[in-house]
Amino acid sequence: MRCMVLRELKNPLVAEQREPLQPAEGQAVVRLHAAALNRRDYWITQGMYPGIRLPVVLGSDGAGTVVRIGDGVPHHWSRQPVVINPGWNWGDDPRAQSGEFRILGMPADGTYAEEVVVPAEYLHARPDHLTWTEAAALPLGGLTAYRALFTQGQLRSGQSVLITGIGGGVATCAMQLARHAAGRVLVTSSSDEKLQRAGELGADAGYNYRQAGWARQLIADHGRVDLIIDSAGGEGYADLLELAAPGGRIVSYGSTAGKPGNLDLFKVFWKQLHVTGSTMGTPDDFRSMLELVQRQTIRPVVDQVVPLEKANEALEKMRDSRQFGKIVLAIDSSSQ
Ligand SMILES: NC(=O)c1ccc[n+]([C@@H]2O[C@H](COP(=O)([O-])OP(=O)(O)OC[C@H]3O[C@@H](n4cnc5c(N)ncnc54)[C@H](OP(=O)(O)O)[C@@H]3O)[C@@H](O)[C@H]2O)c1
Repeated sequence: MRCMVLRELKNPLVAEQREPLQPAEGQAVVRLHAAALNRRDYWITQGMYPGIRLPVVLGSDGAGTVVRIGDGVPHHWSRQPVVINPGWNWGDDPRAQSGEFRILGMPADGTYAEEVVVPAEYLHARPDHLTWTEAAALPLGGLTAYRALFTQGQLRSGQSVLITGIGGGVATCAMQLARHAAGRVLVTSSSDEKLQRAGELGADAGYNYRQAGWARQLIADHGRVDLIIDSAGGEGYADLLELAAPGGRIVSYGSTAGKPGNLDLFKVFWKQLHVTGSTMGTPDDFRSMLELVQRQTIRPVVDQVVPLEKANEALEKMRDSRQFGKIVLAIDSSSQ
C-alpha cells in the first residue's frame, strides 16, 4: 500500500510502498478514499509538537471502507463506509482527556496512506450526504469545533458567536456548525477574500483583523459577543477580552500566533468572563457532532483536493495559511 512517510524533521515526506496492513484483535483496517490535513501535521514536520516519534505516516483525518477486521470486531463493520474518530483513549472524565490520550497520525501511523489500522471503537458510519472528500474533511475539525462551541462554549440558540481566523480548517467547521444554532455568526480573517467567502457561506459579518480598529467597529455594528472561539492567541487576544459581552465566554483551542501579550485581567473579573480551553473532544462529543452534521446536512468546507503524492505541496500551502477550509488528499481518485 502507498503512504507518505515523515522520516526526518524539516524534510519533505517520502512516498513509500508497504505491505498491506493486518488488524490485531479489536482492530479494523480501513482502505482510505481520502485524508485531510490539520495544522498539527505541519507542526509535527517542524518538530513543534511534543513526543514526536519517527518515522511516521502523518494524518488524523480520513474516510474509507473497512476491508479487514480483527477478532472480536462486529461483522457489520465489514465493507462499511466509515469516518474515523482520531481522538483515542480520552479516558473516564468528560471534563478533560487522560494522560493516555492519543491522536491518530503520531505516534500511531495515520491517514496519508492507502490503509490505516484503527481500533473498532473509533469507527463511525460515514454520514450519507457527504462525499468521500467531505467526509475526510470532517473528523478532527468537526470534533474540535463541536466541543469548543457546545460542550465548552455552551452556545445557546440566539446567542452571538465570533470565530477568529475563518480561513482555518477548524474555524470553517465551527462556522458551519454554529450557523444552525447561533443568532449571529461573526468572523475575522487576515484576508478580505476569505471574509467574502465566509459571507457567501452564511457568516453574518466579517472583519479583517489586520485592520486597526476592527474590534471597535465590530462592537459598534453588532454589540459585544456572547461566545468567542479562538485558535490564534498572540497579541490579538487582548481584543477578545474587549469584545466579549459581560458574562461572555472565550474558548481557546490553539495558539498559532503565540502567547498573548499583556492581558487586562480587570476585564476578565469585572465582566465576569469565562475563559476556557478546549482540545478535540470525547467519544460522546464526536457522536453528537456527527448527529448534528447528519440532522442539518452540514458539509465541511473543502479548499482543495490534491493527490496523496502531493502532500508536501499541501503542507506548504497550510504553512502559508493560503487555504480557506480543509485541504484534502485524494487517495483513491476513482471514488471522490
Ligand atoms: N486543541 C485542539 O484540539 C486543536 C485541534 C485542531 C487545531 N488546533 C490548533 O488550532 C490552530 C488552527 O488549526 P487548523 O488545523 O484549523 O489550522 P489551519 O487550517 O492552518 O488554520 C490556520 C488559520 O489560523 C488563522 N490565523 C493565523 N494567525 C492568526 C491571527 N493572528 N489571528 C487570527 N487568526 C489567525 C488564519 O486565518 P485567516 O487565513 O482567515 O487569517 C489561518 O488560516 C492551530 O494552532 C492548531 O494547532 C488545536
